[in-house]
Amino acid sequence: MPATVIVGAQWGDEGKGKIVDLLAQDSDLVCRYQGGPNAGHTVIVDGETFKFRHLPSGILSGKISVLGAGCVVDPEVLLEELDGLEERGISSEPLRISGNAHLIMPWHIAIDGASEKRLGKLQIGTTRRGIGPAYADKAARIGIRVQDLLDPKILRQKIETALAEKNVWLERVYEHEPFELEEVAARHEEFARRLRPYVADTSLLVDRALAQGERVLLEGAQGTLLDLDHGTYPFVTSSNPTAGAAATGIGIGPTRIDAVIGVSKAYVTRVGAGPFPSEMEPALAGRVRELGQEYGTVTGRERRPGWLDLVALRYAVRLNGITSLALTKLDVLSAFHELEVCVRYRLPDGTETRDFPAHQSDFHHAEPVFERVDGWTEPLDECATLDDLPAAARAYVGLVERELGVPVELVGTGAAREQVLARS
Ligand code: GDP
Ligand code: IMO
Ligand code: MG
Repeated sequence: MPATVIVGAQWGDEGKGKIVDLLAQDSDLVCRYQGGPNAGHTVIVDGETFKFRHLPSGILSGKISVLGAGCVVDPEVLLEELDGLEERGISSEPLRISGNAHLIMPWHIAIDGASEKRLGKLQIGTTRRGIGPAYADKAARIGIRVQDLLDPKILRQKIETALAEKNVWLERVYEHEPFELEEVAARHEEFARRLRPYVADTSLLVDRALAQGERVLLEGAQGTLLDLDHGTYPFVTSSNPTAGAAATGIGIGPTRIDAVIGVSKAYVTRVGAGPFPSEMEPALAGRVRELGQEYGTVTGRERRPGWLDLVALRYAVRLNGITSLALTKLDVLSAFHELEVCVRYRLPDGTETRDFPAHQSDFHHAEPVFERVDGWTEPLDECATLDDLPAAARAYVGLVERELGVPVELVGTGAAREQVLARS
């Protein structure tokens, strides 16, 4: 398919990086359309592990790698990532950054941390990378953009204007040290010098690639339920991970998108705070956390495991227009004689629903209705196609397809690039 969106169908960390890396082998361009270094996408190839925060996972295969206008860019993190890759022999040459993307500035990171601290028990559990404050400034039209790096005078002026206000907030509201203009300006002039060669008209670049029949992957970060508009607000990120945002985030029309692959774990995890109906009880959660190594890619935070939630996944199919699913980490479930799957929510008024509740209080109080299904304990390493899966695992995949009305085209059986099953 010429333009395919790869979207997280849950609360992030579904294994998008691995699926994108795999599909990148047969693609020409890989583009991130939203988010910033709050992402952590793991790719394992030939025993080597790569953790991408900013960069599209396609950079590993030398594919043209775009950071679209919908992204927020922390220059320091991006340069660190580029340097790290160069040290490992991966060229940064294919990177193209939209001039319209916004910059995460040091005060965004300071405000993210300080505002979480102020929220105390009510905190969102953000990655503290400055994501929310950077998108807030973008929406308030006071952000600094990647294209401002092209002109040292403009850059300095914008930093000066921003600091005049941000320092007041930092000192008076957040009891944080103010930032020094000279220091910030000098650091950013150096970042600018290094990043200028990568700035490009990425909307035009992608449009031309599509016109020439090239294959473009649009790599989502975070996941559907972390979507600012449609996720479990306020426990969400500050961008739109859902597939529709791929068009605006890159600067192509929605009619250019041909397929949407939803990536879902065979169970669910969530990191950070917020309601989570199918969350496992602590002992079981601990076991799945160990089996699946469910610790944050970048922050190392413990992820909260839960049983597969078909109500939430049905919502993801609807919101993203998912045309097929990649079900990752099925191997992690190869340890149970019985599994549970959340098929409905019971709402506070006693009714049951297969559709995701539209109102937060219904969702916050939703009780999961589980169906018990047979598990399996055989390892999946020897399987070559989906047909080779143990019968109970095939039935599990079949249940997902029947309930959601979407085919499962890929199944993950391990973390490495080749540990994926397709239909025979
Ligand atoms: P992303 O943010 O969606 O790219 O996902 P992360 O990289 O944050 O988390 C997914 C984790 O699961 C990573 O450690 C991957 O290496 C690992 N992973 C991905 N697919 C599979 C799979 O099918 N089986 C197993 N066991 N691990 C997987
Ligand atoms: P990838 O791309 C999982 C979560 C944070 C927090 C909320 C808001 O690796 O799937 P933010 O820093 O964005 O303001 O935090 O969103 N979060 C993620 N959870 N995977 C991610 O990215 C995430 N990015 C943000 O834990 O709950
Ligand atoms: Mg991740």
